[in-house]
Amino acid sequence: MDLAQLTRDLEALVEETRAALAAAPDTAAVEALEVEVLGKKGRLTIVLRGIGQLPAEERPLVGAVANRVRGAIEGEIGARRTELGAAELESRLRAETTDVTTPGRPIRRGSLHPSIEAMAEIARIFGQFGFVVYESPEIEDDEHNFQMLNIPPDHPARDLWDTLYVDVPGHLLRTHTSPGQIHVMRTVKPPIRALLPGRCFRYEAIDASHGTEFFQVEGLMVDEGTTLGDLRGLLDEFAHAMFGAGKKTRFRPGYYPFTEPSVAFDVECLVCGGPGCPACKRTGWMTILGAGMVHPVVLRHGGLDPERYQGFAFGMGPERISMLRHRIHDLRLFLENDLRFLGQFR
Ligand code: PHE
Repeated sequence: MDLAQLTRDLEALVEETRAALAAAPDTAAVEALEVEVLGKKGRLTIVLRGIGQLPAEERPLVGAVANRVRGAIEGEIGARRTELGAAELESRLRAETTDVTTPGRPIRRGSLHPSIEAMAEIARIFGQFGFVVYESPEIEDDEHNFQMLNIPPDHPARDLWDTLYVDVPGHLLRTHTSPGQIHVMRTVKPPIRALLPGRCFRYEAIDASHGTEFFQVEGLMVDEGTTLGDLRGLLDEFAHAMFGAGKKTRFRPGYYPFTEPSVAFDVECLVCGGPGCPACKRTGWMTILGAGMVHPVVLRHGGLDPERYQGFAFGMGPERISMLRHRIHDLRLFLENDLRFLGQFR
């Protein structure tokens, strides 16, 4: 290795680097080239290792050449990087342009859940008859959910409500909104016209018509001289407002421990209108709620004298009302939160 050879090698390296830079398609290629030539194991570094073998007096000369070469290569790399970087920025800006004249996307509006929509409609209709909305607790004790409603601990009617218990002894998730009757009677003086909407819970096997969570709307009217006829007239008005004027209705005998007499309230089949079809199981009727005259025992538990006051109560499932109104066939849709389903309601 002599001085002339080293100088030639360095000049050749500059030439080669220049050619490679010209051919580099993008800044990433320039980056790679920089490492290849100037890096710790780069070609310039390797060439300069030869300096050690030169006589001492020649070394400063070579050092000067080497510094010039390094400077030249650095300059070329920098220039090419700037050139390619500008082109890359330019094309990126072109690709990412925002067209400010594009029309905006519509904002999706929320809608009421069908259970809520049905409850609002129920409250609106009974509101016209002077019924006021109250709330009562979702966690109840056994007394309010059962005993004060004339359902003693070992009463067989408990089988009607498969209960979910909480880990506070004697407490449970209410199986119906009827305990609200007791709360209202103990808080409000007659005349009472109360509506109690709320979530209820039952230990059920889930299928198209049973869920473990659902809403109920309870109605309670208490006054002097309230009759079953008043209940019938009110429910007729409700059915006509909810399902259409002129729809036929009927009372059937029913059974609830907290009402006497108890009834089931039916409306003519909304699908076939009477003759019978699969939707009404060929009966021509659809049951929309349970009701009855408040049992004297329940009035007494509510702190009212049954010799003076009479009342009626009714309880309905807004999901069932909604299913009848909108011809929905599966209760599970109400809990699955599928926006394609939910978005169809107001
Ligand atoms: N609580 C009853 C049920 O859960 C419904 C009902 C309410 C019946 C009020 C009569 C009176 O099925």
